[in-house]
Amino acid sequence: MDIPRVGILVGPRGRGSNMAAIARSGFADVSVVIAPSESAPAVQIAHDLGLAVSIVPPGDEYGSRLVEALGKVDFVCLAGYMRLLPAEVLRTFDGRVLNIHPSLLPKFGGQGMYGSRVHEAVIAAGESESGCTVHYVNDKYDEGSPLLQLRCPVMPEDTAEALAARVLALEHQAYPWAIELAAAIIHRRSESSP
Ligand code: GRF
Repeated sequence: MDIPRVGILVGPRGRGSNMAAIARSGFADVSVVIAPSESAPAVQIAHDLGLAVSIVPPGDEYGSRLVEALGKVDFVCLAGYMRLLPAEVLRTFDGRVLNIHPSLLPKFGGQGMYGSRVHEAVIAAGESESGCTVHYVNDKYDEGSPLLQLRCPVMPEDTAEALAARVLALEHQAYPWAIELAAAIIHRRSESSP
């Protein structure tokens, strides 16, 4: 695999900062950005970056419409995508769907654990460190195998906003590296299989 082609799925309120970090990294070729509506903030950023955008609203045959929009990508990357992926997408891109989460999973993950709630929970639990996790995606929220984690300290005076900003900076490093790592793992496996 040369530079992996990726399709990025963003949510209705996704800022698109991880999408932009992946696109600018040189570690991946972003073939398409898929959003549920034109009004998702990430869509404007994708246009500004010259990325192809496909609007795929949820509804009938959502899974097959997503698969069609993704086309021949090597990896599907969720970035601020809030839903469970349809089984058809997981089957089609088996072992090639990644997500990023703003905590050190398995801590502070699962349904309803997103955005500032994650960082508030980390602070409330008195954790001394936090970070982000890139993991493979399965049919449950934040439960697929972890691929890469980056860590940062939680400062005694941290607010959720301050911690979120520190973790987000890590996310922008972690996601491109994780794509590179996932591609290397697939390449290594294909070379060693008979
Ligand atoms: C990130 O914090 C990511 O960990 C989570 O959703 C957020 C998306 O942010 N899954 P952005 O849209 O990439 O800025």
